[in-house]
Amino acid sequence: MSNVDYSIRGRIAVIAFQAPPVNSLGFALRDGLVSALERASADAAVDGIVLIGSNGTFSAGADIREFGGAAVRQGPTLWTLNSLLDSMPKPVVAAIEGVALGGGLELAMSCHHRVALATARVGLPEVKLGLLPGAGGTQRLPRLIGIENALNVMLSGEPLSVGMFAKSPLFDAVVETDLLGAAVKVAETSAAALKTGQALPRARDQRIREPDLEALMGFARNTVKTAFKEYPAPLAIIDAVQFGAKNGFDAGQAEEGRLFKQLMDGTVSASLRHIFFAERAASRIADLPADTKPRNVQQVAVIGAGTMGSGISINFLNAGIGVRLLELNKEALDRGVVRIREVFEGQVKKGKLDVAKLEARMALLKPVLAYEDIGDADLVIEAVFEEMSVKEQVFSKLDAVMKPGAILATNTSTLDVDHIAAITQRPQDVIGLHFFSPANIMKLLEVVRGAKTAPDVLATAMTLAKKIKKTAVVSGVCDGFIGNRMVHQYVAQGMAMVDEGASPEQVDKAIEKFGFAMGPFRMGDLAGNDIGWHIRKRQYASGSHVKRQVVADRLCEMGRFGQKTGSGWYDYKKGDRNAYPSPVVAGVIDEARKAAGITPRKIEPAEIVDRLVYALVNEGARILEEKIAQRASDIDLVYLTGYGFPIWRGGPMRYADSQSLYEVARRMRAFGAQPGGDAEFWTPAPLLARLAAEGGSFTGGAA
Ligand code: CAA
Repeated sequence: MSNVDYSIRGRIAVIAFQAPPVNSLGFALRDGLVSALERASADAAVDGIVLIGSNGTFSAGADIREFGGAAVRQGPTLWTLNSLLDSMPKPVVAAIEGVALGGGLELAMSCHHRVALATARVGLPEVKLGLLPGAGGTQRLPRLIGIENALNVMLSGEPLSVGMFAKSPLFDAVVETDLLGAAVKVAETSAAALKTGQALPRARDQRIREPDLEALMGFARNTVKTAFKEYPAPLAIIDAVQFGAKNGFDAGQAEEGRLFKQLMDGTVSASLRHIFFAERAASRIADLPADTKPRNVQQVAVIGAGTMGSGISINFLNAGIGVRLLELNKEALDRGVVRIREVFEGQVKKGKLDVAKLEARMALLKPVLAYEDIGDADLVIEAVFEEMSVKEQVFSKLDAVMKPGAILATNTSTLDVDHIAAITQRPQDVIGLHFFSPANIMKLLEVVRGAKTAPDVLATAMTLAKKIKKTAVVSGVCDGFIGNRMVHQYVAQGMAMVDEGASPEQVDKAIEKFGFAMGPFRMGDLAGNDIGWHIRKRQYASGSHVKRQVVADRLCEMGRFGQKTGSGWYDYKKGDRNAYPSPVVAGVIDEARKAAGITPRKIEPAEIVDRLVYALVNEGARILEEKIAQRASDIDLVYLTGYGFPIWRGGPMRYADSQSLYEVARRMRAFGAQPGGDAEFWTPAPLLARLAAEGGSFTGGAA
């Protein structure tokens, strides 16, 4: 079927276009639209034109898949299309339903008139892709809704209800039904007015009325400079708007084009575009049949009313799903319920929730003290102590009480999900749902697929994740899954640098300057160093090949577990979350270096950053090769949503690509070769070595 359908209603040409699923304006559609507009222009039987999406939506804008390649500039470009609209001799009306976003709204603004269905949403979301609206949006929108409103639309990037602009020149009419009929009517009226000598209204001809342009732009500039430090697009939007307001539409549009190209060629936009597609790819599971039907989940049970169990429960309560919270100890159960209520009360205080909703959510929560009371739940998630013997007890109990078909999930962060599944008579119903702390806030959910997990159990987990607004990433079974397996290498590398001569604060500072929310030592102190200690002790005991972490172990032996004990890698003061360098820790480090015969050396911040990030990348490469992760972009999502990796760098795998894998492998080998370097640790993983040699990349992104 052609992407553009041309039909006639009276004396109005209706150009109905489609490029499913969202009518993005790729080359073929642009070409089709130009031809249809030229045909209507030349058609003597036509007085006016309506542009309408034929599949329930107008357009989600430029085809993002073309970005970074030649197709985006393949003629006709969006710019050509919009210039053609400006020069049309007959009125053109955009009829908007669904969404008109980005280039879609820019196309509509280049039409003479716009009519929208009241349910439609419009916006210029380019800023979220690290871009500015590059098809006249920075020039036309301020002329239609005023500079301040236009800046708010462009800097937030949010899709907004058309009702917000119903009274502005952005829309001629907002209708409840019969969009096409209304648009045809507007076209007829406009065509009649044209015949009486009235000029066709064009956004480009509107005057910008802003009495205090300099002050407004100065204020906007200061605001975005602090709010979006690492992101160049917001400032570029302000620059383009100001330039056009001062120098006129054509000069403004030329400046917009120059800035658009600059942003498109930059690394921040490439990273954000990578994330856009990563977010959508993560829900695709290659070997899951497309017709897999998820199981019905109406009632969830959570075992363990500690911080984790309470946080997990809140997610489901927020989504309107009933939760049985099980804890065998009455006081602990009561504390859990209070904790949940306090979180909701905090939201009420901030104005994010009203009291009625708070009570409605609490009414969905049923605290229980016995396993028998959760038997009819459709999904049960255990969040008990991270110890295999404890999990074994819980799962044999669950196997006994849960109804057939219930999904049995573990929130383990490191333990073997296949072993846990094997405790039960129904390993096909067992899955890992690894929430991150605080579980009601962190976006990431690692969905751990066991060897025997049934396809519909996996599909249910992915569907539920969407319902509770989590970013779900599928992981295979291994020690630590995707995120923690990688973080172990990263933390180990941080500790290695402390052994060699860096202080914990030097390591943290360097990686925080790179953009991590928190360095490995502050992170350890926040999460509790006892967790890693516990895991290490298990590894030492199992005889697995792990290096003894002398300093970290010693600090734990001293009870320095982190913020919760008032001391860890740093010292803490009561009521103050700042981390203060600790002379005690410095002493322990010094002692350990002496015992190991290490003469400390100064480690430059650049080396600290490379060693921490490349430790992640090398383990990521192994995870990819072992098919623990389905794709490199899934690994990036894990790090962006669960570990505070700087968003503008796109995740560790994408970042490695941007550095060129050849360079990454070369630097790694150099770390291994330096005096005292760990040559085994720094041997590039086979996949990394191969891609580096071939000039390839993990994510398919350009170097
Ligand atoms: N280009 C290419 N593909 C797009 C796209 C676009 N602009 N917008 C969405 N898609 C694709 C998605 O990748 C997804 O593909 P898969 O099914 O293969 O994964 C599919 O369309 C459906 O998208 P969602 O899963 O996001 O569906 P949704 O219903 O949840 O949301 C949406 C729909 C609101 C349109 C959302 O996709 C969205 O916000 N899209 C991005 C819009 C955007 O950023 N537009 C600006 C583009 S840049 C531009 O226009 C530059 C310019 O100024 C010239």
